[in-house]
Amino acid sequence: MITELNCRILENRPLGPDCFQLLLEAEQEIEIRAGQFVKVAVPGFSLRRPISVTDVEDGVIRLTCQIAGKGTAALAAKRNGSLSVLAPLGNGFTLPEEGSELLAVGGGIGTAPLIGLIREAVKRNCRVSAVFGFRTPQQALFREELSALPLRSFYAFESEGENVITLLRREGYENIPFAACGPVSMMEAVDEIMQADGEFSAECRMGCGFGACMGCSVETRSGMKRICKDGPVFRRGELLWKTLR
Ligand SMILES: Cc1cc2nc3c(=O)[nH]c(=O)nc-3n(C[C@H](O)[C@H](O)[C@H](O)COP(=O)(O)OP(=O)(O)OC[C@H]3O[C@@H](n4cnc5c(N)ncnc54)[C@H](O)[C@@H]3O)c2cc1C
Ligand code: FES
Repeated sequence: MITELNCRILENRPLGPDCFQLLLEAEQEIEIRAGQFVKVAVPGFSLRRPISVTDVEDGVIRLTCQIAGKGTAALAAKRNGSLSVLAPLGNGFTLPEEGSELLAVGGGIGTAPLIGLIREAVKRNCRVSAVFGFRTPQQALFREELSALPLRSFYAFESEGENVITLLRREGYENIPFAACGPVSMMEAVDEIMQADGEFSAECRMGCGFGACMGCSVETRSGMKRICKDGPVFRRGELLWKTLR
């Protein structure tokens, strides 16, 4: 059930040049699945900002945010007190079966919603590979965290002439079931080269965030869909990239 939670800020710390991590303690425990998102009320702004849940551990909700405009800049500056959060929103990723294989492909801040999925897959004894791309090594997220987990992680940096596509090809990963999130151009390229089943997490400007306003409706191969409620995670083959560009 979608709930408005009053969350205490336990930590708000910078991660690299334009990103920050928020740890929020909710007043009540709620179940949030990997790939679902929340809408955070930023003091001084009328519209809540949609942010994916990086993961939830012992009731603490972790959000990883990039400063994209005034709202996220205000959130970065809010170091203590509490925030109103609407959660859980959206459908989330399909969790891999025990002992199966999972490839997580992420670009930039799109790596954030994949962390909960990766952690869940590791718990399920899956063979997990993560292929993450960023512009520069300074912008890389989750590097230490992934290196401490039993999985194979690869980082591609545009500044070094590499991207997730060249890495996926080099490692021969085209046949592994995957979950991907990142810029539309990256997801489109992933869609072109992969031969296995997969899921994509999409993004767009949102109004309500829970299916009421139709503001996030996009045309898909199976008709009009609301990204906030029918997504943000869609099965491979459902999204029409041209409507998201
Ligand atoms: C399902 C979903 C999950 C997301 N997960 C994350 C995440 O984990 N980390 C993160 O840093 N960002 C995430 N975003 C993007 C984030 O919502 C925007 O960067 C943020 O809302 C920008 O707000 P702003 O006030 O700083 O920017 P402004 O440009 O000033 O915002 C103006 C308005 O446009 C909306 N808006 C602007 N850019 C976006 C965008 N890319 N997506 C949706 N709405 C936007 C804002 O919410 C606001 O209502 C996610 C977006 C969606 C839809
Ligand atoms: S944002 Fe209102 S229906 Fe999706």
